[in-house]
This record gives sequence, structure tokens and C-alpha cells, in this order.
Amino acid sequence: MNETKKIGILTSGGDCAGLNTAIRGVVFAATFKGWEAIGIYDSTDGLFSRPMRYKTLHIADFDFPYAALGGTMLGSNNTGNPHLQRTGDGSMEELTDEELDQRFQDGIKELGISALVVVGGDGSMSIVSKYCKRAGISMIGIPKTIDNDAPGTDLAIGFESAVNVVTDALDKLTTTATSHNRIMIAEVMGRGAGHLALTAGIAGFADVILIPEIHYTYEGVVKKLREIQAKGKRYGLIVIAEGTRKPDGHHSFAGNGKTFRGISDYFTQRLLGDGFNVRGNVLGHIQRAGNPVPDDRLLATRFAVRAVDLIAEGKSNRVVVLNKGVICDVALDDVLKIANTPVNPESDLVKTARQLGIYIGD
Ligand code: F6P
Repeated sequence: MNETKKIGILTSGGDCAGLNTAIRGVVFAATFKGWEAIGIYDSTDGLFSRPMRYKTLHIADFDFPYAALGGTMLGSNNTGNPHLQRTGDGSMEELTDEELDQRFQDGIKELGISALVVVGGDGSMSIVSKYCKRAGISMIGIPKTIDNDAPGTDLAIGFESAVNVVTDALDKLTTTATSHNRIMIAEVMGRGAGHLALTAGIAGFADVILIPEIHYTYEGVVKKLREIQAKGKRYGLIVIAEGTRKPDGHHSFAGNGKTFRGISDYFTQRLLGDGFNVRGNVLGHIQRAGNPVPDDRLLATRFAVRAVDLIAEGKSNRVVVLNKGVICDVALDDVLKIANTPVNPESDLVKTARQLGIYIGD
């Protein structure tokens, strides 16, 4: 007897726009193959907790506007401790590595899933692929991150939408900067990578862009600001990637000591001290929010369809990627060897910034 194939899908790590579109793509492509798709809640937590938390997904679950909304309908986590799981009565229980592994295997068996699509970062894919291997099922990864530093792919889901949010914020900061003849500083997310700051900074007509990958000097920033003032421009825009080091070589961290935050405060204080009319702004989590732009919807949909095709072809431990405009797939092991991809200081985008006269370091 031919049983219906069941596949699972989960979202993991920090959210971004386009995740719901990816889930929709997987559910649609699976349904059109005659398969069933099961959404696992809160990354792998949905399989670890008892009772399990999951939902069989149907095409009707994506009636407008659900797939066009930001966030993830399945929930996600990037800071949780998988060892601590909520029980049916709401209390917490602590599980060992072996118990987590067993619950994953039991959960997969109970749901009858033969493959799992992980929409997440390479770290999540690596962890989940090990559980999948022990549970005897295949894993296919779909990369997402507003940081766009996912290894092996030219683009990850969420980046284009974040560029849109940041560019819009820069335009808004510039209107008030012009009214008050001010220098506005925007601190942009990206963790250790400057892709978001660089791309949105050029699109938002910044005068200065500082990113972790390129060395700069405080004096270089001041020189640029004095230059634009000497030319009669009385406002200015500085875009700084959150992972950029201060001139003393140290990072600025949020209260949790883990996520970057505060480099804009450093520059604001120092430039105020040097007589500039300046205000600092941390754009924060709004950069991960909002609805996906069309490019992200297309990318998420193309990735999702390829992921389902890979499952149909019996593949496992593959990551769907975009390579020079073409959707391809690469081995997860190869992706993990590359680690994250920073901005190449010799890239066309960096050269473009320099040729526009943007100060981007030395
Ligand atoms: O990796 C995505 C990202 O938004 C980074 O740009 C940022 O540094 C980090 O996540 C913030 O993490 P959290 O949501 O845990 O504060």
C-alpha cells in the first residue's frame, strides 16, 4: 500500500520577513505532490515538548494575507535552552541530551515524517541535521538571515526586506536631518557582517558607512563630515553596522553581553564633544519586521520549491542556495566548512561606495 508521504517544516533562529512565504511554498509544493506537510512549532521545541506542538498545514492556511506577513506562523527561537521544555500543565522540565534525542526520534515516528525542511541559519541546520540523522530522516536547509552572511548563497531570505526597511528609515532620518542641519547616525544590524549597512547605506545616500570588515579611523569620519560641511551641505548621514569595532578595537554590546549594540552612542558622544550637531539612532528589531518585499517572496518561494524537489529526489543534508541568479543546492558539510561570508572589501559594492566619495574606511 502506498502511504502518503509526510514532511515536516520548522523555522529556527532570529526571524525575518519571508519565512511565512517559505512555509507556504513548501506546503503548496508538497500538497501538489500529494504529500502532507506538518509545521513544527518553535523550532525543534515542538518535537521536544510533551505534548508535542505541531499543526498539519493546508493550502487554505495561507489564504491572503498570511503568507505576505512578516514573522513566522510557526514561531522560532534563537536564545532558548532546548533542555528546558514546557509540560502539558505549564510547568518546566529539564531534559538530558539523550532524552532530547529520544523525544526527537519518538516525535518523528509518531508524526510519520520522512524529511524535515529547516528554514534557518547554518548553525540550526547543523544541529537539526544530527537529530535527523539519528532519527533516520532527511534534512533540507533553506537559508534565512537579514545579515546575508549565510555561507554558500548569494542571498538569504529576509535580506532584501531588511534593506528596504533600513533604506526607508535612512530616508526618514534624512528629512529631519535637513530640517535641523544635523548629522544623523543610524546603527544597523548585521552581527559580524556589514552587508546590510553597506547595501542600505548606499541606497540611502549615506556620507559615511562603517562596517566590521573595513578598518576606519575616527579622524577619517571627522574629515569627511568637515568636507561635506565645507561644500555647504549642512546635514549628513552616517550608517554604522552594529558589529563595527570602536577605534580602541572593542565592540559595543547590549545588556545581555552577547548581541551588539551601542556603537552609534559612542560616535554620537564623541562627535558632540567635537562640536557636531549629531543624533544617534539604533534601528533595532524593526529591521527584521514588516512584510516581505517581492524579491524575498520570490526567493522564499523558489527555495521552498527546490527543497521539496530535493526531498522527492531522495536527497538529504543539502542546503538550497542562490548562485549567480540560479537556484542550486550544496552539501550542508560544505556550507559548514565555509562559515559565514563577510563583505569582501574588494567587492563591486565597496568600490561603488568609494567612487561616490562615501567614507568607508581605509
Ligand atoms: O542574526 C540576525 C540578527 O537580527 C542580528 O542582525 C542581530 O545582531 C541579532 O540577530 C539580534 O538577535 P536577538 O533577536 O536575539 O536580539
